[in-house]
Amino acid sequence: MEETAVKYEDTFGIDRKDTSNMKGIPAMSPPEVHDYMRDLGRGWAGQGLAVEVGCWLGATSAALLEGLVEAGYDKPFWAFDRWKANGAEVRKAKEQNVTLKLRQDLQSIYMQNVCKVYPKIRAVKGKIPYTLKSYSGDPIEFCMFDAPKRNPMFIQSIRAFIPYFIPGVTVLGLLDYYFYAGRRDVQKKGDWKKFLAPVRFMEQYKDNFTMLQEFPENGSCVFFKYEKSIQWKQK
Ligand SMILES: C[S@@+](CC[C@H](N)C(=O)[O-])C[C@H]1O[C@@H](n2cnc3c(N)ncnc32)[C@H](O)[C@@H]1O
Repeated sequence: MEETAVKYEDTFGIDRKDTSNMKGIPAMSPPEVHDYMRDLGRGWAGQGLAVEVGCWLGATSAALLEGLVEAGYDKPFWAFDRWKANGAEVRKAKEQNVTLKLRQDLQSIYMQNVCKVYPKIRAVKGKIPYTLKSYSGDPIEFCMFDAPKRNPMFIQSIRAFIPYFIPGVTVLGLLDYYFYAGRRDVQKKGDWKKFLAPVRFMEQYKDNFTMLQEFPENGSCVFFKYEKSIQWKQK
């Protein structure tokens, strides 16, 4: 099942995500988040690389990369996605005057969009969390999640990358955080609670992270700094 807000839209018939584009790239995130991600990239400390899980057509990757390029980034940018258009993605793109076909392979569109900004892209196509095994194991400075939402996928994805997080440096972006957190007490339908996995994780490990920036009203994204190593409380 789709692990994204577009899946939620399909199930519950609501869409509160801003669908504006990022310099012509259809987006599922708003301009203020792109601006913030660009600023994050500009602050690259040179200690690790950037990873995004759930990239779609590249709007958020390109925004982060624009900042990284300004900062002199020279490492691979890891991008994980299945890049296969579903019905909701076709609709989202259409709202932004881009025509996609159902089940269309989107990887070449992604590559075209992001390689204009930065060429060293390690794109891994396929189903997460399985594809995350191919990660190189290099230290990570930026880790953006816009696909893993429910358990066990969320916790498996976090566990795949946390060993490479740098305490006091790594930024973890959870790009649908408030979409779920903000409705936890009012939403009773369907499999809603399963989508609280990222929220519950951050509550459980609140001593290991500090919040850097949140976008509760528009975009639902929250960015955290990883402060200290995790002693796992769950399997
Ligand atoms: C919300 S979209 C990403 C939007 C992008 N960050 C933006 O703001 O424009 C989520 C992406 O995650 C991908 N995705 C969702 N579940 C996945 C899975 N299990 N394996 C691989 N990709 C997945 C979808 O294909 C989609 O491209």
